[in-house]
Amino acid sequence: MKTQVCIIGGGPSGLMLSQLLHLKGIDTIVLERQSREYVLGRIRAGVLEHGFAELMREAQCGERMDREGEIHDGFYIAHDGKLDRVDLKKYSGGSSVVVYGQTELTRDLYEARDKMDGKVIHNVEDVTLHDLKSDAPWVTYRDGDEIVRIDCDFVIGADGFHGVSRKSIPKDVLTEHEKVYPFGWLGVLSRTKPVSPELIYARNDRGFALCSLRSQVLSRYYIQVPLTDSVEDWSDEAFWDELKQRLPDEVSAKLETGPSIEKSIAPLRSFVAEPMRYGNLFLAGDAAHIVPPTGARGLNSAASDIYYLYHGMVDHYLNGDDAGLEGYSAKALARVWKAQRFSWWMTTLLHTFPESITYDQRLQETDMEYLFSSEKALGSLAENYVGLPF
Ligand code: FAD
Ligand code: DHB
Repeated sequence: MKTQVCIIGGGPSGLMLSQLLHLKGIDTIVLERQSREYVLGRIRAGVLEHGFAELMREAQCGERMDREGEIHDGFYIAHDGKLDRVDLKKYSGGSSVVVYGQTELTRDLYEARDKMDGKVIHNVEDVTLHDLKSDAPWVTYRDGDEIVRIDCDFVIGADGFHGVSRKSIPKDVLTEHEKVYPFGWLGVLSRTKPVSPELIYARNDRGFALCSLRSQVLSRYYIQVPLTDSVEDWSDEAFWDELKQRLPDEVSAKLETGPSIEKSIAPLRSFVAEPMRYGNLFLAGDAAHIVPPTGARGLNSAASDIYYLYHGMVDHYLNGDDAGLEGYSAKALARVWKAQRFSWWMTTLLHTFPESITYDQRLQETDMEYLFSSEKALGSLAENYVGLPF
């Protein structure tokens, strides 16, 4: 087989790039290790920044998001038994975020790809990248007993943190920066009315909690748990009990509980691999960088990578201009590191750290006090949360 751009990974990054390039007449093949049902069964991001939503519209996939997604102009931080609101719209100069699940936007991207006869090949095994430094890279995968070869101009590594693309770059070329946090998030999805119309991020001595939502009848809650915990350790009842204890009384009194329809634990990690290009392989999204989910930056950082790559590819194929592709890694990393800083900061502000000393705890309290006493500090939080410009 032959294509112009071979994309490894059929998550949001890979599908979005494929769709955008197709609309400009650039041919792609997407290779996805899992089945479509599996990809759509993963419950992940819920908050989309303005820039991501714009990209969905540009990809002609924004219709359902605009109809069913909720615009949120603010969120709450619960601390010391009270609720303080962060007015995103006011402090960011008019921006807001969209609450729309990653599951739904991935479904929209798949449907758009189907409508345009986009090539998305599922259940591929043993994906291997070849001759990445040459002008004619190629990719192979196994389909049963058969090895299939795809010749292309460029390979995009959009295959997430555990994918094969980053690992195909020689170790002496790549620098990896990693910070692993000593806890994870236990997430529960339930068919219950959300406890609050806007998200609540809660700091509590028992650990962090987050009240989020997917719609007015579907709630998503998270609590910080030790890395040693597993999903089996947490019955629904134990989860709701713990969540209530971490929220201010006025919130827990209103909390509607019910059976979980999904329950999973995600470890928290910060990670960046640089550079994001090796020969004609370009990394994008979680394949190159991971943030702890606290600032809702993961998918949104993927969006800026895709935006830069999309424009770089269009300039290459349609205008014969390679400046965008040449500058891709540096440009993407500049924004990626800002998302890293913000996610690290929000994680540090809101979680309890097992090894922390009284000095750390006082700093954390002071950080919170400063935040709600300074419009400039709130402005910094708001502009990062709604998304820095691409
Ligand atoms: P992925 O979604 O990981 O997709 C990569 C794809 O590649 C997968 O489908 C995988 O099966 C496939 N693949 C892997 N290896 C191979 C291979 N060898 N060959 C072929 N295919 C392969 N972000 C936000 O912006 N806002 C939020 O509110 C938010 N909340 C989150 C909450 C949780 C609990 C978690 C875990 C994450 C959250 N994120 C959030 C982060 C967000 O989900 C990720 O950043 C996003 O999924 C990245 O998309 P991606 O396409 O780059 O990678
Ligand atoms: C959700 C996840 C996040 O990481 C976040 O910061 C906000 C919302 C969610 O899954 O709804």
